[in-house]
Amino acid sequence: MPIINNDFQDILTERHSVRRFDPSVKIDRDEIKEMLAETITAPSACNLQAWKFIVVDTEKGRKKLHKYFMKFNFPQIDNSSAVILIFGNTLAYKKYSKLWHSMYESKKVTKEAMEAALNTFMPLYEKAPREMLVADSMVDSSLAAMQLMLVAREHGYDTNAMAGYDSTKAAAIMGLDPEQYVPVMAIAIGKHDEKADPEIETTRYPLSELVDFE
Ligand SMILES: Cc1cc2nc3c(=O)[nH]c(=O)nc-3n(C[C@H](O)[C@H](O)[C@H](O)COP(=O)(O)O)c2cc1C
Repeated sequence: MPIINNDFQDILTERHSVRRFDPSVKIDRDEIKEMLAETITAPSACNLQAWKFIVVDTEKGRKKLHKYFMKFNFPQIDNSSAVILIFGNTLAYKKYSKLWHSMYESKKVTKEAMEAALNTFMPLYEKAPREMLVADSMVDSSLAAMQLMLVAREHGYDTNAMAGYDSTKAAAIMGLDPEQYVPVMAIAIGKHDEKADPEIETTRYPLSELVDFE
């Protein structure tokens, strides 16, 4: 798939939440997979990659979203090309050993480095309270979410992040185990409807209010 926009300044500064999508724009599943492959180059704590994506691009899927999203998000659900749900995987550490073994097998790390990493991190995760696993997975997934919004712009698409939904229902409605998966946010993706009003350009607080140097 060709890269539509390779101008990082434009990708960054011209990203604005789009809520009125052109319903005629469809995104091929192969291109969505390509965008997600770029998305998961995001960093994560200990490289745990505690994220999970569900791509909703069918009428059946959109109907499920209507069951737990707030009404003000229905236009994005109905008119975007897809809504990508991002969940944190609180049990990502269970496949962590397999990941290090694959890095060892492809000669990216020595046996000693693999064992040192597993011996350091696995006991921490195995003993961690659920709140810590939830918090970690939400941080990892948020980085992926931001990366996805920028990758979408690289592909010429607009996005709207959404967390306006009943988070207690999200996992179960989408067929996931709510103990393992925590909803982080959803990203509606598509193209701004040129016939609709322009989207709002939001203002940021001045940097001087936000930054200290020490
Ligand atoms: C975690 C998160 C949740 C959000 N939830 C919603 C939402 O449910 N509905 C919506 O219309 N916009 C939602 N937004 C979009 C924000 O309102 C928007 O990012 C913010 O106003 C800044 O505008 P900008 O994205 O155009 O820069 C959400 C954004 C984030 C990061």
